[in-house]
Amino acid sequence: MIFPNATEHHQHIIVIGSAYPEDVGDIQRIADARLGPGYISAANLLADPRQTVFAAWRGHRLAGFLSASLSSLADIQRDMPALGALLAGQPESSGPIGFLHAVAVDKAHEKQGIGTELIAYALDTFFLPHKTSMAITTAWSDNQGVHVGGPLHRNGFRKIGYLADYWREDSLARGYECPTCGKPPCRCTASIFAKSLLVAPKC
Ligand SMILES: CC(C)(COP(=O)(O)OP(=O)(O)OC[C@H]1O[C@@H](n2cnc3c(N)ncnc32)[C@H](O)[C@@H]1OP(=O)(O)O)[C@@H](O)C(=O)NCCC(=O)NCCS
Repeated sequence: MIFPNATEHHQHIIVIGSAYPEDVGDIQRIADARLGPGYISAANLLADPRQTVFAAWRGHRLAGFLSASLSSLADIQRDMPALGALLAGQPESSGPIGFLHAVAVDKAHEKQGIGTELIAYALDTFFLPHKTSMAITTAWSDNQGVHVGGPLHRNGFRKIGYLADYWREDSLARGYECPTCGKPPCRCTASIFAKSLLVAPKC
């Protein structure tokens, strides 16, 4: 989406909303640069009815994006057994689960709060209205640490465990290159973060 009338003042304002089909090129460029070439197909992501994609614009530039979906413990146990086993020990996992998948911010717009705001926006406008009982994410961790750890902590997530070699089989099957590991297999770890979204009953 392009905002042709953005003034210099407005170029400092971050606007977050649902991504548009015409954002496909910008999302692909940011995904390839930040998450590794081929890890995400922006066209498939935007066309997938199970995925919701939010974008952050700074002035007229798309500065970052986040993808998320609604899930359940049963779905996760079926599709990702190791993650399902870890979540099964969490009391909130019996209700609907909001799953944050990818979040990436253009290098030129990093460290300005955009990643933190994208996560907050997904929690407030997507997960909470769908009455999810918990939000989870599999956060990419390498020798630099958990990339998105700060934005997750600022949004109230806590680490509940980790899964080593989380992307190993997927990277071999799909042949994408991890920015840290290079050619497959990816040997990075997923740090599993969760946030309870259950609202305490009023006294
Ligand atoms: C991880 C990522 C999404 C974070 O996005 P971001 O927009 O830079 O995130 P934020 O700006 O909200 O926070 C990042 C840091 O900037 C700092 N920051 C935020 N606003 C700032 C400001 N105005 N001035 C200076 N620093 C600021 C935050 O304190 C934070 O530091 P911390 O992580 O040490 O706590 C981004 O770095 C990225 O795309 N990385 C590559 C892809 C990736 O790893 N994605 C996550 C996959 S799970």
